[in-house]
Amino acid sequence: MVGEVCRAGGLGILAGLRVEPPELRRRIRRVRELTDRPFGVNLWLHPGLRPPADVASLPEGDVHAVQSVLNRFRARLGLAETLERPAPVPDLIEDAFEVILEERVPLWSIGLGDPGPAMVARCHERGIRVMAMVASVEDARAVAASGVDVVVAQGVEAGGHRSSWSAEAAGRGGVGTLALVPQVVDVVEVPVVAAGGVADGRGLVAALALGAGGVLLGTRFVATRESEAPETWKKALLERESDATLVSPAVTGLPARYLRNRFLDEYAASGAPVLPPLVQSSAAETIFRAAGQRQDREHLPMPTGQSVGLIRDLPGAGEVVATLVREAAAVLAALPRRVRTG
Ligand SMILES: Cc1cc2nc3c(=O)[nH]c(=O)nc-3n(C[C@H](O)[C@H](O)[C@H](O)COP(=O)(O)O)c2cc1C
Repeated sequence: MVGEVCRAGGLGILAGLRVEPPELRRRIRRVRELTDRPFGVNLWLHPGLRPPADVASLPEGDVHAVQSVLNRFRARLGLAETLERPAPVPDLIEDAFEVILEERVPLWSIGLGDPGPAMVARCHERGIRVMAMVASVEDARAVAASGVDVVVAQGVEAGGHRSSWSAEAAGRGGVGTLALVPQVVDVVEVPVVAAGGVADGRGLVAALALGAGGVLLGTRFVATRESEAPETWKKALLERESDATLVSPAVTGLPARYLRNRFLDEYAASGAPVLPPLVQSSAAETIFRAAGQRQDREHLPMPTGQSVGLIRDLPGAGEVVATLVREAAAVLAALPRRVRTG
């Protein structure tokens, strides 16, 4: 998918979360075989992952409450039940960062965290650009002060995790893309990219009008031929509308937007706590894996944004980029007729 997006003139971003460093290096080299164009590699920098939570010191009551709820799902799927502590989350971020430096990837893309000036400086020494995603003006200021080259302003419509890491910011309500992007444009000097709710050329033009230099799309690319998402998820993207998503921490321990399903509804109704970042997903891993293998969309986490309501086809990833640009050109050409001045 990264190769196709880059070949079509976009900037493809390789996911690095939970990828073992040698495998990340292999994937980076594979992208280089497919394209000479710039691409990015994404890592999460959430403070709750650096270092990962100590599973041995989790309160016994929390582990019991979470596993008891998960056992309901395990029983339904015919999986072995357990009340044990989940497996610890491997500490991969520092080693993955070293791979990014050694491979001199064109762009390091960050979700959920502030790299700080030292990490940014290490990238710049090697000619690596740094792009950090934020969901609030306050976090935009923080990453800009760290010296990043691009800030992604992620509206609350976005699919996947909210790129918000300070507890205060996470506790406050989310801000929509339309309101967030111009505010971020106003407070940072570097280019801003808009994310959340964009799936066609109209969204691209709107983002440019707000002062963004470009757009970052997630949900639209799940519904492509190259996407590795289970078929049932792709099918759901064609069927469901924008009101079919919700934000929940029940999958990974951090709030993210998903297509609503039985797992999310029943977990919320249970009132069970959630374990720390990625320990929660480690606990539920067998459930999610079985759901993916069985194409069971009621127990499969399907990170999806409100742009799902705009998705009506399953094109190639390169076609998504080409269509977006073609549509944007048409929208721009038509705009002067729709704005009357004087
Ligand atoms: C399936 C899926 C997986 C995602 N994974 C990541 C990730 O690993 N790292 C990251 O920084 N953002 C991730 N995102 C969020 C995107 O960076 C982006 O903010 C979001 O998709 C934009 O909104 P949209 O889904 O409406 O296009 C993911 C989004 C989706 C839909």
